Parts: sequence; structure tokens; C-alpha cells
Amino acid sequence: MSHESKPINEDLFRDKLIELLHAKMVRETPQFMERDAHPKQHGLVKATFTVAKDLPQNLQHGVFVPGKRYDAWVRFSNQNAPIQSDRKKDIRGAAIKLMNVPGEKLDANNGNTTSQDFITISTPMFVTHDVEEFFYLIKALVSGKLALLRHFLFHPRSLLNLLRSNKNYASPLQTRYWSTTPYQLGPQQIVKYSLIPHAGVVTHLPVDAGPDFLRQTMVKQLAEKDYDFDFCVQLQTDPQRMPVEDPGRRWSEQMSPFIKVATLTIPHQAFDNPAQNAYGINLSFNPWHSLAAHHPLGGINRARRVVYQTLSTFRHQHNHQTQTEPTNYDIPALETSIGAQPEKEK
Ligand code: HEM
Repeated sequence: MSHESKPINEDLFRDKLIELLHAKMVRETPQFMERDAHPKQHGLVKATFTVAKDLPQNLQHGVFVPGKRYDAWVRFSNQNAPIQSDRKKDIRGAAIKLMNVPGEKLDANNGNTTSQDFITISTPMFVTHDVEEFFYLIKALVSGKLALLRHFLFHPRSLLNLLRSNKNYASPLQTRYWSTTPYQLGPQQIVKYSLIPHAGVVTHLPVDAGPDFLRQTMVKQLAEKDYDFDFCVQLQTDPQRMPVEDPGRRWSEQMSPFIKVATLTIPHQAFDNPAQNAYGINLSFNPWHSLAAHHPLGGINRARRVVYQTLSTFRHQHNHQTQTEPTNYDIPALETSIGAQPEKEK
């Protein structure tokens, strides 16, 4: 019932992509190795995820148990690597990690038995439709401007999606986020996710915006009050016009509006300290940190299963860190080794 169809060359392009990204990470990080994507962290914050009490029966799958509350971490980020000023247009990320989720996880053999992750970005459509196209985009990106222009000539939708997705926002807490890729919701349904801020979406740059204003704004906002988001699902109602294998295509909200399933609350807090920042950098988010009820779907998600695990392991080994899944809000004391250094603001 998943409507998945895997191109025969997908694993080949996935492995070529890993090779390319691995080499790029080595080139870009002579000392401390950042994530290949979303390296700039605005903040790792404590949150709670509370499922709606009146959730319709058909949406009650996996973690979506009416009234249930999970403790969570949320990591806000910029997509671009290497790290750049927040004044530049970019895609922003919000990665949610629910802790102590009962039930068997899809990646249990890679050491996760407790987390359910939901990973979202500030655009409803991913840049490419499949892994092969993504590989050629990254290849063009690392080959220089001429190669990139040539690539976009033959892949105009990628260019259009990128132009539409790279934007400015006034705060990570006033940005809307989407999964772009689909997920199962129980055995019969397919959904995409969106995170909608109660504080509204604000796209203008503050007049005094410095290179790290997104972190600074969040520090000020969370010193004052709590910020809530609606965590919503959009049901696939038409497999042709809402395809599983093309996350570059937005699913129409007229055909199927997003439905709220939970409230993500980010309570007022002080989060910007060296130990917590380093802890966030060390965490790994992965769409396959998941219950089978929320099984990731489509080629881009299939590739992410191996890409994230391989490249996260690579950066942890390079930085002499261990990969662990959190089960509480405890932050280990900052060590003096290079692996515990927080990223430099640029
Ligand atoms: C084949 C396509 C993709 C590739 C190769 C890719 C690659 C990566 C890699 C290597 C990381 C860092 C993993 C780590 O070191 O822990 C990452 C993180 C991330 N990716 Fe992707 N990605 C892809 C698709 C997507 C899609 C469709 C989304 C849409 C939601 C997305 C959103 C993110 C976000 C928000 C993070 C940061 C998570 C965090 O805060 O740690 N990526 N990606």
C-alpha cells in the first residue's frame, strides 16, 4: 500500500553520493568535523510534544496516542555548508527528537532503541525528485559555477525549488517547517508533516540583524515566554497528484489540508551555553530513528537511511566522540578535547 517504486540504480547513486559528501566533509573541515548538511546550529532546546486528546481514530498510530506527552529535544539549524551568516537566504531546519518512546525501532541494530525523530525544513518541497538527480546536483555544486549552471539548464525544476526555498526568517520560532518526504501512518495511510508556529511566520530581517541573529533572537524570545507549534499531518488522498517518489513536488493543501496531531511546546529557557551547544552538535537526528508505524517512504528517505548513519559515524569518529541517544535532559560537562568544542560563529 506504500506506492514505493525503487529505481534499479538507486543504491549505486546513494553510494556515489556518500563518497562525494565524505570527500566534501574532509575538504571543508580540517579540524573539527561538522555535519555535512545543517551544520550551523541556532540552538538545541528542551521541548515537550503533547498529542491532541481528541485525535481522530484513524490518526492514532505510533507515538500519536491521544493525550500522551513526550519529553523532546529540538535542534534548529541553517542548511548551508560551510556555515554562513544568517543574513544570507538559506533553508532552515527543525529536528525533533522524542525521548523514551516505547516500541521497537527501525534502526535498533544501529543502537537506537529509544528515540523517534521528526526532521523538518523551512520549505514544502525538496530540491530534487530522486537520489540520482541529487547526486548530480551535489557533483555540479562541488565542480564549480559553470558545472552548476549547466546542471540547472537540464534540471530547471531543481533551480526553481532552490530559489523558492532559500529565504530569510526573523526567528527559528516564527518559521514554518515541512518534512517534504512522506511517511507511513500505520499500515494504511501515508502522510507528510508540518510544524506551524503559533507566533506566526515572520520573513523580514530585523534591521540590526548580525551574522548570528537567529540564535540571538531565540535567546531573547525564550528568555521571555514559551513558544508553541502545531505538529500536523497531511494525508495522501491521491497517489498520482501526491506522489511518494517525488519529494520535489508539494502536496496540495487544498486537496488535503494539514491536520493537527500534537503541540510542540518550547518552554521559556536559557539554552545558549557551551556545554548544551556542544551536546547538540554531537547529537544525531535520522528519519530512521523511528517506529515502524512512521516508516519513512520514497527514494530520498531510503537513501537517508545509509547516508545519515555513515556520515554521522564518520564525523563522530573524526571528532573522537561517541554517538549516543539521549533519554533525559542531562547535559554532560564540557570536556577539553577537540570533540567537545562548540562550533565557531561565522
Ligand atoms: C538524499 C537526500 C539527503 C541527503 C544526502 C542528506 C544529507 C544529510 C546529512 C549528511 C546530514 C547530517 C547527518 C549527521 O551528520 O548527523 C543531514 C542533516 C539534516 N537533513 Fe538531510 N539529507 C537529505 C535529505 C533531506 C531532506 C529531504 C530533508 C527534509 C526534512 C533534510 C533535512 C535535514 C535536516 C533538518 C538535518 C539536520 C538535522 C540535525 O539537526 O541534526 N534532509 N542531511
